Amino acid sequence: MAIHKVGVVGCGLMGSGIAQVCAMAGFTTVVREVNQDLVDKGLKGIEKNLGRLVEKGTITEAAKNEIRGRLKGTTTLEDLKDCDLIVEAIIEQLPAKRELFAALDGLCPAATIFASNTSSLTITEIATATKRPQRFVGLHFFNPVPVMKLVEVVKTIATDPAVYEEMVAFGAKLGKTPVRANDSTGFIVNRLLVPYLLDAIRALEEGVGSIEDIDNSMKLGCGHPMGPLTLLDFVGLDTTYYIANIMFDEFRERRFAPPPLLKRMVLAGWNGRKAGRGFYNYADPQKPTPMKI
Ligand code: CAA
Repeated sequence: MAIHKVGVVGCGLMGSGIAQVCAMAGFTTVVREVNQDLVDKGLKGIEKNLGRLVEKGTITEAAKNEIRGRLKGTTTLEDLKDCDLIVEAIIEQLPAKRELFAALDGLCPAATIFASNTSSLTITEIATATKRPQRFVGLHFFNPVPVMKLVEVVKTIATDPAVYEEMVAFGAKLGKTPVRANDSTGFIVNRLLVPYLLDAIRALEEGVGSIEDIDNSMKLGCGHPMGPLTLLDFVGLDTTYYIANIMFDEFRERRFAPPPLLKRMVLAGWNGRKAGRGFYNYADPQKPTPMKI
């Protein structure tokens, strides 16, 4: 079955990025949010990104208009019922995701493929809210979605191999490099990334180095685009804390256990860039300054 029309549920940071890359890759795309304000906010962000690409000469104004023409925002789930593929990028909570997919299962034809962008929940547990776990995969994108070249394509023991191959091909059509992962909590990237980020916090807790020195070490010593504490602020400390707890519950290994400092920063609302402070203060977003921790 060929994919022509893609539905994206959720138009936040990840959902809007996914909708953007789908429309840019030529797919008719419908993105759904729970209210018009959120739809407008998400589409405005996409407009801004596409505008930047025009300014840089990456795409023409005409191409931008075509991409925009392929993209529609809605608050109505029914508008997704004739999609060939639906990618979910809503809040990272199992009951909310199961409820959404159960509703979509009732709306969409049996052939529609469902995918979740979850970074830490078990795909199998989401898929079993539907009567089509064989047509259910994980499609895990990375932030910022239009820039990051990877998509993890996740199969469960119930996924039909033909559906899985179709989703691997879909990831490539989006211009991403698809990697194949099994439905193991955290998949490949977070399995490796989360312990690294948590270790950076432990290094800070133990006084191994300052915030800036830990970041500069990995940036300049290992060629990472961002140091781990900057990356934590970028991903969100609340998000990382949530993922780490799920991974710790699953594997019961210390390397996934959230360090006490992370818990306290989340409790204090120091959730990173989006909160104005985390390991850095973003009062001037162009010049973040390290917090005194
Ligand atoms: N949306 C669209 N484009 C963006 C963007 C955004 N939010 N942010 C940056 N860009 C684009 C810029 O326009 C620029 O494009 P050109 O090269 O064509 O001009 C390019 O990205 C580089 O941006 P900048 O020069 O402004 O800044 P930079 O060189 O520091 O790059 C970055 C920014 C791409 C975010 C880079 O720092 C980076 O790769 N950081 C690591 C990000 C990362 O690890 N993400 C994964 C997080 S883990 C996750 O998402 C999954 C999970 O489950 C937690």
